[in-house]
Amino acid sequence: MFIRPLNRRALLGATGIAGITAALAACGGGSGDSSSGSGASGTQMRLALNQTEDHPSFIALENFGAALDEATGGSWGIDVYPNETLGAQQETLQMTSNGSVEMSIVSGTQLENLNPDFLVLNMPGGFDDITKQMEILGDQEIVGELFASLEESQNITVLGGFTQGERSVYSTKGAITTPDDLAGQKLRVQESDLHLAMAAALGATGTPLAYGEVYTGLNSGVIDAAENNEISYATQTHFEVAPYLSLTRHLVGTDYLIINTDVLNSMSDEDRAAFDEGWAACVEEHTGLWEEQTAQAIEDAEAGGAEVNEVDAEAFKEALSALPEEFLTTEAQTTLWDAVRGAQS
Ligand code: GCU
Repeated sequence: MFIRPLNRRALLGATGIAGITAALAACGGGSGDSSSGSGASGTQMRLALNQTEDHPSFIALENFGAALDEATGGSWGIDVYPNETLGAQQETLQMTSNGSVEMSIVSGTQLENLNPDFLVLNMPGGFDDITKQMEILGDQEIVGELFASLEESQNITVLGGFTQGERSVYSTKGAITTPDDLAGQKLRVQESDLHLAMAAALGATGTPLAYGEVYTGLNSGVIDAAENNEISYATQTHFEVAPYLSLTRHLVGTDYLIINTDVLNSMSDEDRAAFDEGWAACVEEHTGLWEEQTAQAIEDAEAGGAEVNEVDAEAFKEALSALPEEFLTTEAQTTLWDAVRGAQS
């Protein structure tokens, strides 16, 4: 399991609740009572997000909240807190488990640290494209057991996934066309053993950092490069400090909407049906926005000085080809991998 050098989970035990209360007060959202979002007018669930307000995830989730409020006659609503206001994903995952926030969007890499079977879906080469990815994430026969796997141990239900699109490398140093160009560069990765190995396989030195620390990391030289989708590159303005975006498209990543299981189970059947319907519509809206905003993101980054280049895609594929064999070590993992790959052949 991936452990960051600074044990932020332990720190959270001491400072988390005060921090959340302060953040909620600063945002003007919630009741200020961090242990409960309930009020006479219904339950207002807090949803932690690490993206900006112009990101597809924020837009689609806000619309989900409004639709849920309307469909349940005000019994259930959602306050989306963007920009890591409630903490980085490693923290908000923990907060969703202990109920100090009700929901969070977390990357698959975070869930891999709670149940290593999730790494199957974080594997370079796992999904061929976004359409196939969304079909598989919506197929209960393939993902149903995995999504329920954290309920008993963590009190977390995985409701489903958003695409993170195709992830590519960007650098402060210059254009990358083959993995050799990354040699010696410190490449920021998410907090995942698999993604550290991915960086090594590309010849880089993997440096795990929380999303919100990437801009400063690039700017200060703590890292030389990062990898993400075009929308994150543009909305986080990483192009300002790492102007070389090289379209490696090495991975189609996944974000998950997670909810505290007790909260989910406290919904009436009727409200739960409205919730499920709203979430399905939210995923659909998100996928549509993703396509639109990806083209716009590239334009925005280029207008801001980014230089975008194509790469030797085969060389990247080849460099990463040994990862499945190295990381898929249990029967559950290989069965899931075969189902994911089999659904795309
Ligand atoms: C994407 C993804 C986030 C994730 C981020 C990262 O933006 O949507 O959930 O945190 O990548 O690289 O950390």
